[in-house]
This record gives sequence, structure tokens and C-alpha cells, in this order.
Amino acid sequence: MTHSSRIPTWNIPEQQKSIGVFDSGIGGLTVVHALMKHLPHENITYFGDTARVPYGSKSAEVVREYAFEDTRFLMQQGVKVIVVACNTVSAVAIDDLKSHFDIPIVGMIQPGAIAACKASSNQRIGVIGTYATIGSESYPRALKRCNASIESFSAPCPLFVPLAEEGWGSHPVAASVAEEYLAPLRRQQVDTLILGCTHYPILHGVIQEVMGKGVTLIDSGEAAAYEVERRLRENNILNTSKEQPNYSFFVSDVPQKFKQLGEIFLDKSDLRVTKVHLA
Ligand code: DGL
Repeated sequence: MTHSSRIPTWNIPEQQKSIGVFDSGIGGLTVVHALMKHLPHENITYFGDTARVPYGSKSAEVVREYAFEDTRFLMQQGVKVIVVACNTVSAVAIDDLKSHFDIPIVGMIQPGAIAACKASSNQRIGVIGTYATIGSESYPRALKRCNASIESFSAPCPLFVPLAEEGWGSHPVAASVAEEYLAPLRRQQVDTLILGCTHYPILHGVIQEVMGKGVTLIDSGEAAAYEVERRLRENNILNTSKEQPNYSFFVSDVPQKFKQLGEIFLDKSDLRVTKVHLA
């Protein structure tokens, strides 16, 4: 089924409108999971750009173009806040989105960096993400803004994305890829590691095993869920209704795979997943 219409939302009170979340694909469900846990009364509308994933190996210019289209689509659905679950978009396009769209917008970088600063004792923090996120140096800048004496060490881990999409987050192949990617960060003796990509929490167990128990893993999505709550309170648009929340999922291709993986990942049956064509 395809869908491209705008839904009428003028008669819905602002508080009851959805939180709009977008990502390049399925990985943003880690952020949805954190939002469902932290804000259980909120309605959520999700867009996953499954036709154009991955974003992390594309140029900043192209990622920005996609980010504008994704945001416009969610605004047409009448959401009250936009959560940019994709770290790649958060790293290269958040300022452009904030200055262009008149709606509260929450990205992943700032909340993740603040949580990491709080967690670190030795002030040596690792950051992993896509090529675009690491290349943008957004996390190191945000960490320095938080605490100028923090030293950060970054590593792109592109193969984690297809492993997560394949449902191989705990597979032995994931463990050997993690050994390879994370060895330089272990040598730097970081005590905190930012999982700077939506997909990486799916490999949480493997990453923790390789880094060792003494290293705190920071899930930027979880940190962002607190920031979303803060912004909703600040704007007086927190949903106080105790009704069962409504979750809608839209993707730009192969809705069946998204539904199958999404139901396992969110531990829910009957996810409503609709294929849309972004005009
Ligand atoms: N969602 C992207 C991110 O969080 C990872 C996958 C991709 O490369 O598109 O950076």
C-alpha cells in the first residue's frame, strides 16, 4: 500500500499529537523503544527511509536533502515535536533543520555527549558511529563544550549497521568485527563509549564484552528520551491522557521486513507499517 496524503490534525489538541521520529531505516527503533519506555503515554509516528538507507556513507549535502524531506513528511502528519533519531543527520544537518522548521527538534549528539560527560571518571571518552558522523567531529565538539578537559577518541564502525539489520547483533561474526573496530579505543583506555548510531545498541552485548565491564556504554537514544520529555514539559505539550497510545510506522520501501524485525525488536504484535512515497 502506498500513501502520500496529509492527515487532518487541526482538531487534535497539541498535547495529544504524536512525537515524530525519523531515521534512515530500522535502527531508529532503538530510539522509539527508549521513548516508549520513558514516555509511555505518548503517541509516536515514525518514518524510516528504508529505500535510501544507509545515510552514513553519503555526503553531508545529500544527507541534508534527505533530512529535509523526512522532516517535511512528519510535519505533514501533524506531529508536535521532531526527534532526529539518526545520528548521521543529527551530526550534519541539525542546525539547518532547526533554523528552517518551526517546531521543537531534538537530535542525538548533545544528549549523548552530556550523558557521557556525566558518566566518565577518567575523562577519556570513545565515540563510535558512521563515517559521516565521525567525519563531522560533532561528538568531540559537543564533549569539549561540556567539559574542555575531556579527551575523545573516535572510530567509524560501518559494518555494525548491516549486522544489526540482518538480526546478527549477537552473532560470532559481530564479535570478531567488534574486536577489530574497538581495539584502538581499548588501547586508549576510555572508560565511557558513546554508541553514536541508532543501530549500535542492537550490538550492545557484544560491544560490552569486547570493551570490558569497566566501560560505560552510552546509548544516545536513551539520553535523548529525557531531552524529549524536557522539551515537551517546557512547551506544555506533554500528553497527560492515560489512553492506550497510538503508534504508526511509515517506510519508503519493503514494509514487510520492517514489520517483521520491528515486531521482534519492540516485542509488539500488529505493527501498522505503511509504505509511503516522499514527493
Ligand atoms: N541511522 C544511521 C545513524 O544513526 C545509521 C545507518 C545509516 O548509515 O544510515 O547514523
